Amino acid sequence: MSKDTVTIRDNRNNREVEFPILHGSEGPAVFDITHLYRDLGLFTLDPGFRSTASCKSDITFIDGEEGILLYRGYPVEQLVDRCDHLEVCYLLLNGELPTDAENKEFRRIVTNHTMMHEQLAQMYRGFRRDAHPMAILVGVVGALSAFYHDSIDIRDPRHRLVSAFRIIAKMPTIAAAAYKYYMGQPFMYPKNELTYAENFLHMMFATPCGEYKVSPVMARAMDQIMILHADHEQNASTSTVRLAGSSQANPFAAISAGVGSLWGPAHGGANEAVLKMLREIGSVERIPEFIKRAKDPNDPFRLMGFGHRVYKNFDPRAQILRKTAKEILDAMGYVYDPLFHIALELEKIALEDEYFVRKKLYPNVDFYSGVILSAMGIPTNMFTVIFAVSRSIGWIAQWNEMIGSDEGIGRPRQLYTGHARRDVPPSGLKED
Ligand code: SDX
Repeated sequence: MSKDTVTIRDNRNNREVEFPILHGSEGPAVFDITHLYRDLGLFTLDPGFRSTASCKSDITFIDGEEGILLYRGYPVEQLVDRCDHLEVCYLLLNGELPTDAENKEFRRIVTNHTMMHEQLAQMYRGFRRDAHPMAILVGVVGALSAFYHDSIDIRDPRHRLVSAFRIIAKMPTIAAAAYKYYMGQPFMYPKNELTYAENFLHMMFATPCGEYKVSPVMARAMDQIMILHADHEQNASTSTVRLAGSSQANPFAAISAGVGSLWGPAHGGANEAVLKMLREIGSVERIPEFIKRAKDPNDPFRLMGFGHRVYKNFDPRAQILRKTAKEILDAMGYVYDPLFHIALELEKIALEDEYFVRKKLYPNVDFYSGVILSAMGIPTNMFTVIFAVSRSIGWIAQWNEMIGSDEGIGRPRQLYTGHARRDVPPSGLKED
């Protein structure tokens, strides 16, 4: 068998350079072009990084063709059945599932970091009441940097661990407070006796006026949503966190950049966009009209919740959440939920439609998470916030891996297509 290399020949001067092929433990091999520019005087161009691996990572593996998602080697389908979100947080951060003792200690530490600084709570008052909760989240998460000077020496692993605990513990509190601020209700403090998902729902829906019992079905569904959204390899927001963090900015600033990237409707904002789309469709009879628009290259309309850059098979998370959506609707007494009915019809039609089959556009995680969250009575403008709370462990685990590596600052190059050098007119103005 030929050597594990790739040879690139520049046909302009017949210069050939060999590049080593590197094999991971799963998935496609890569060829290492670290010295391409030095040896061949050429950059690569790959807008959107469709064929580019930006880093080595041990954390999450996706097989888009087979619809596989592994967190530290464990299939997400098994994790969602046998673990809760905090156990998955431990796994993503440390690389192994916790022992019983480690689990208890991890929970104890996270619990002790769940409150936010009272001054940070004051910050919300600077926002309009109708501010989108994601706008508040971007701001408040970034402001964490202003409160924790004792743990941002990122070269110190102990500081990195404290920052990880603070992000894991405080994101639900910050997110629930954004909802309360939007609703004009008082913030609720975390309750140490509740589980992570129960605590989040309690801070969202409880008021000081009386006891609020978190529905076990809702807590279970929220825990599943958090686990399924926890990490996803080098997606747009995670790549943003890694790049922002590579300048050695403090972790809270890097995570805040990730929150901003996740907000987009092509990424984490899709679950909110799915509900808006289902409401716009309004009835099963109107689905063909929207399918037609989605197929029209001149119409910018996309079927929100369909398609994925990597999954060209069913998103395994969507498979799990499809079942959860049915369970939650049954449990919440939704005999007939028009939105879910439209969603199921849309899924059925799209999966039979030649265009979607040919382009391998399957329902993704956002398609069903939007329906579940809606059935739980969560407003659509909180959907991406919940995605951000869930993904924050993935972001901090990936940031921690990047800081602990020898990658250094990320600094992509470009293909320059602008003006060649030219002189400024003596007047400093463009001549008529
Ligand atoms: C998330 O990266 C991640 O891992 C993200 C995520 C995570 O956990 O972090 O999984 C979370 O972001 C899920 C995706 C949520 N976004 C949406 O549901 C928005 C709707 N989907 C599309 O915008 C789109 O599918 C993307 C952005 C998700 C992917 O964009 P790509 O890579 O350009 O899509 P593709 O290569 O699969 O598209 C193939 C073709 C294209 O047509 P051509 O250019 O080949 O002619 O299908 C078309 C696209 O135009 N297409 C769609 C479509 N998605 C792609 N046509 C109609 N409706 C759609 N939803």
